[in-house]
Parts: sequence; C-alpha cells; structure tokens
Amino acid sequence: MIKKYCMKDWKMPVATNAVVMDVECCDWNETLFLDVQKTDETLTFCYHLERKDRIYGLGEQVRGINKRGWLYESYCKDDPNHTEDKHGLYGAHNFFIIKGKEIFGCFIDCGGKVTFDFGYSESDRAIIRTKNPCEWYIITGESVLDIVSQFRLAIGKSYVPPKWAFGYQQSRWGYKTKQDIQNVIKEYRKRGIPIDSVYLDIDYMEGYKDFTVHKERFADFEKFVKDAKKEHVRLVPIIDAGVKIEEDYKVYETGKNQFFCKDREGKDFIGGVWPGLVHFPDVLNHEAAEWFGHFYKDLLDIGIEGFWNDMNEPALFYSEEALKAVYEKAGELNWEQFDLNDFLELQPMINQLGANEEDFKRIYHNVNGRKIRHDKVHNLYGYFLTRATMEAIKKELPEKRTLLFSRASYIGMHRYSGIWTGDNKSWWSHLLLNIKMMPSLSMCGFLYAGADIGGFDGDVTEDLLMRWLEFGIFTPLFRNHCAIGRREQEIYQYPSWEQMKELVRLRYRLLPYLYSEFMKAVLFDKMYMKPLCFLYKDDEEAEEIEDQLLVGESIMIAPVYEQNKSGRYVYVPEDMLMIRFVNAFSYKKEIIEKGHHYISMPEGEVVLFVRKNHLLLLGEGGQCVEEAFQGRIGIVGWIDRRAEYSYYDDNGITSDYGEQNIEVLAISKEEEWRLWVNEKEEGLEKRKYWLDMEDGFHFLESIKRKDWNLYTKDRKNNIVF
Ligand code: GLC
Repeated sequence: MIKKYCMKDWKMPVATNAVVMDVECCDWNETLFLDVQKTDETLTFCYHLERKDRIYGLGEQVRGINKRGWLYESYCKDDPNHTEDKHGLYGAHNFFIIKGKEIFGCFIDCGGKVTFDFGYSESDRAIIRTKNPCEWYIITGESVLDIVSQFRLAIGKSYVPPKWAFGYQQSRWGYKTKQDIQNVIKEYRKRGIPIDSVYLDIDYMEGYKDFTVHKERFADFEKFVKDAKKEHVRLVPIIDAGVKIEEDYKVYETGKNQFFCKDREGKDFIGGVWPGLVHFPDVLNHEAAEWFGHFYKDLLDIGIEGFWNDMNEPALFYSEEALKAVYEKAGELNWEQFDLNDFLELQPMINQLGANEEDFKRIYHNVNGRKIRHDKVHNLYGYFLTRATMEAIKKELPEKRTLLFSRASYIGMHRYSGIWTGDNKSWWSHLLLNIKMMPSLSMCGFLYAGADIGGFDGDVTEDLLMRWLEFGIFTPLFRNHCAIGRREQEIYQYPSWEQMKELVRLRYRLLPYLYSEFMKAVLFDKMYMKPLCFLYKDDEEAEEIEDQLLVGESIMIAPVYEQNKSGRYVYVPEDMLMIRFVNAFSYKKEIIEKGHHYISMPEGEVVLFVRKNHLLLLGEGGQCVEEAFQGRIGIVGWIDRRAEYSYYDDNGITSDYGEQNIEVLAISKEEEWRLWVNEKEEGLEKRKYWLDMEDGFHFLESIKRKDWNLYTKDRKNNIVF
C-alpha cells in the first residue's frame, strides 16, 4: 500500500513527476511510522531505531548496503572524491526502506536538499530534514522486495537501452583523433576481444562546444560513424550541460537572452566548466528544454545511436561572480606586507570555487513565468536535461531505442535513461563500492547502470582491472572508462589480455540470461541485483553480507575485491550449484552445501552459484551483441524436481518490448526428464516440446529457430544439466 502526504500551504515549486501513479494526498499529520514536525523553515521526520533495524536504499551513495550509521545528503554534486567521509554523490535518490521491528518504505519527493541522518547524530534515531517543500510517500508491504516493487510501480517503468548497449564498451578521456578511436576498434577486433561501442569524450568537439565536431581531428565524421558501425561498433558522444559563450556558435546564439538560466539581475548566468565560460540551458523551462533537446538531432541524423550526458549536476568549476571576488581580494593584497592571515583568507576562497553551493543561490530558472532560485530545485537539473534529451530523441525516432545515460540524476529520470556512477578511482575500495551500490540503484529504478570499470581517475593495476571485469560482466552498463593522463586502460594494453578477453567473451555468453533478467526487472518492477538478505529474509547470516549479490532470479555472485587474494569466503545461503568458468567456454560444476566456504578464485576465473531448481542460460557468445543472440542456448541448472524459467528476448532495437516476448521453459521429471518450451501466445498445451534425458548432448527441435541444447549428468539422484 502506498500513501502520499503533503502540506497544502507548502507547495513544491516545480512538479518533479517522479511518481507517475495517481495517489491521493493524505493529511501530513497522519503520516505512518514517522513523526513529522514543521517549523517555519524546516521539515523534520523522525523514527526511533531499534538496535537491529536496518536501512536500505538511497541509490547512488557512499558506504554500505545497510545505510545505518552515517549522515547522507541528497544534493547532486560533482565531487570526484568518493571517499567514505563524503555525504553525497552525483545522484539524489530519496527512497529508503527501514526493516526491523517494523517494515516500511519512504520516498521524499523534493527537488532541493534533503539530509538523511541515519543514526549518525543519535544512534537510535533516523532524522530526515529538509528546508524545501516536498511531498512524501510511505509504502507498506510484507517484505523489502514487495515494497521495492510497489515503489517501482509508482515511479514508472525503467528505461530500456538498445541491446547492443549490453556489450562491452571502451572509453577514455584522451582519445584525441579519429585515428585514436579507429585504433582502439582495430586492436579489439584484431585480438577477438568482443566490443560493441567506443566513446567520444569531450575532445571530439571543437573547443568543447556541444553539438560541434572537430573538423580536422574528426574529419568526415559521418563516414567515420558509419564505418565503425560496419564493424558493429557504435560511437557514443558526450554532451555536457554548459554551453560555451562564443559568438557565432549556434547553440549560444540561439539560446542567449532566452533559454539560459539567469543570474540575480536577470542576465544569463555565467559559470566556468570545460569550455571556459558557459551558460546553462534552463531545462526546467519547457521551451528551453525543447530547444536544447533538438540539437541532438544533428548527431542522430548522421547515425549516432547513443549519448552520455555529463556535467549536469550542473558541475561548476567557478561562477563568474565568485571568481571575480577572488581576483578582487588578490588585488587588494600587497606582496610586501603579505602575511599568514591573508593567505588563510585567500586559500579557502580559491578552494571553494568549485561545486560551491552558494553559487546555486545565484542561479535562477523561469518556470511558466515564475522565477525559481536554483538551489530549491537543484536535484532536478540533470534529470530534466536528460528528460529533454530523450523526449527530443523520441520525437525523431519514436519506434527505436537509443542509448542514453547521465551523471546527475533524480528518481523519475530512471524512465528516460540510465546512469553511470561518475568519477571513481582505480581503487580496490571503489570496486567494492560499485558492488554495494548496484542493489541500491536497482531499488530506485536505475537498472541500466554501472561504474567506470578499472576506475576513472588514478592508475589502474592489471589485477584490479581483471577483478573489476570479473564483476563488471554482470552489470548492465559494462564500460571501461578512464581519465586523461592516467595509465592506459584498454584490455589489450596488458600482458594478461587473453585472460581478460575470456571474461569479456563470458559476458557475451551470459547475455541471454543477463538481458532476460534485466528486461524482467523492468517489466515486473523487480531488482536486477539484490543483496542476499532481500531474498533469504529469515536467514540471519545473510543479513550482514554486502559483498555478494544475487543477479536476477537464478544466480549469486561473490566477487573478489581485494588485492593479492586468490580466493575468498563465500556464504552460500542454500545448497547451490557452483559453476567455475576457467575460461569463457569451459566450466566445472560442483554442488555446494549451504554454509560458509572458502572458495578459491584465481584471477581470471569466474565463479558463480546457481540456485537449486533455477536455470542459467548460456549462449554461444560472439564478437558483438548481435552475434551473441544468434547461436544455440544451453541451459545449466541443478534440478531435483522441476524448474521453470521465463526467458525474455526481443529484437533489441525497437521500443515495442513487452511481456509478449517471454517464453517459459519448464524442466521436470515425470517418468523421464522433459523440457517444455512455451510460447505465450500459443499456449502451453499446444506447444509441448520434450526430450529424453540421457547422458550426453540433446537437441530439441527449435522454437523461434533456436535450438535448445541440454547437458546432463547424474549425481546423487539429482540431475545436473
Ligand atoms: C567528467 C566525467 C568524465 C569525463 C570528463 C571529461 O569528469 O565524469 O567521465 O571523462 O568529465 O569529459
């Protein structure tokens, strides 16, 4: 059940459209579970925490899966140092679930800053505060997963990218020319390392100007895009929020005095980002959003099929006003008499220029003629920009899927695009952070998500890249991205590239399963990745495990995230079939009993655990996603009675995806082992496919021109497929 609360005399300045379900507004005094207090300035929600209460959610955030014990802040921020002392990152995802003596979910719908003090100031209290008008929702249900599903139903279906976007993607800030990128493609293809896209970071533009292409370094751009596509590689350009102030530049010229955010005096607000001085499109204003969105068409027209929207918190290296103050202060100083106090005054002024919240009070939006100060709606900026992007793309290509993901985000944006988790570092701790963050993102609807594999900033080590790939093969967005000036991070740069190649090839073999699970998570409002305790609710041992995840319905993973480790302890919450991929095409199987086990996991080997009576599908892989769905599909599982799997597949290109694309596979033993494949529209009875189970290979007559390939082996009265 979902209930909405609001204060009639404290209206939100802009409708966030985060929730799409019609929910009637209840009186705020009657809010369930939370004690709500309002003073002139501040709204406070309190909840008494029992010792064993746990808190899950908040999407893109620092720290663990259980969020208890820290102060979190929801205020989209360009901060490349994702250390545990931070309070927030690029996204604002105000949904959480408290589970313990009571269980409920809460979503604070608010465009401005909200703080979540989850037992930080007082260990037995959760205190949520905001100075901004908001609406809030309380969701009750029987389990965490039930609450998540209800919430997701309320916020609308998650974004679905084209299928090729589930392939391996290579990126680097620092590819300066067309030749650099062609070389990347050549190196991957030459070595047979599968790849589906290469990214164009800011250097493809002229002077970092959005919607321009550098004429010399990227000459004959259209042909370049098309040639790459002939090799099954899509090029994905970056688009930044800031528009360079430069005469005769079409975006600037058409936007000035009209579609940009304003300063206090009503002039176009000036900030500094990559291009130098910029204005920011006022995407909260409908016309301005439409105006900015329509520029994507130029790139679509020449064959671009995907974009990443960056710097849209918005990132601000400085505002003109704050920078001027620094200059003025410096001008007042006299070198002869310069003393420590002058230094102490000047230093913070400089240090605080970037991502300074005071600047957000200097920016104004025009929403239907109303002037709204940016800080009150700050968290909506990246969301509205990305929504404008997808709406413009949809106008051009309504039937087609386009890849889009953004750095800044707010719940609601999950319907228009995915996200990547910004500028992480080549640190082991950030691999672990990636593991822990994925389920929280799933809770908030951001299913198409991933981190920069290998780490963005810092110099990656070969073993870290290997381990990160071992985890990354399970994340929907599977992109290796890295910063300029840092150690090269393409797989082929490393002596052990052949082992890494096996990991990528395994990703492509897993795609039928991963894509099917992703799509079912979208269609049925489920989590794509979840912690063990969400499923094994009564298992106390599972409760504290944050470094193992369930991926879809059938499998559990336990990645290695520490250096110099050749294995790890794994908690197995029920008897499972352990599958060890020694390379992409050979694996060993072993039944592992419920309990704690030390499992050897040498670098480059992927170990996964299939739940009993669940099925894992394995394709034949390929050099690109298209190929990965063409061959036969094998079924791997451990079944003692019956297993059923809803297999989702579609053409991966068009927007008419839906439940109609599910086939149900059922395997059970009656007199003999049988496999049924059921095409929904035809009905189970009409379509009965079966086969005799004996040792060895079995082929089933094809359905939708696919052959089903089963592997069998007797073991302890069970059968291992
Ligand atoms: C930002 C982005 C990063 C990108 C860089 C240059 O830091 O987060 O991914 O490479 O800008 O465009």
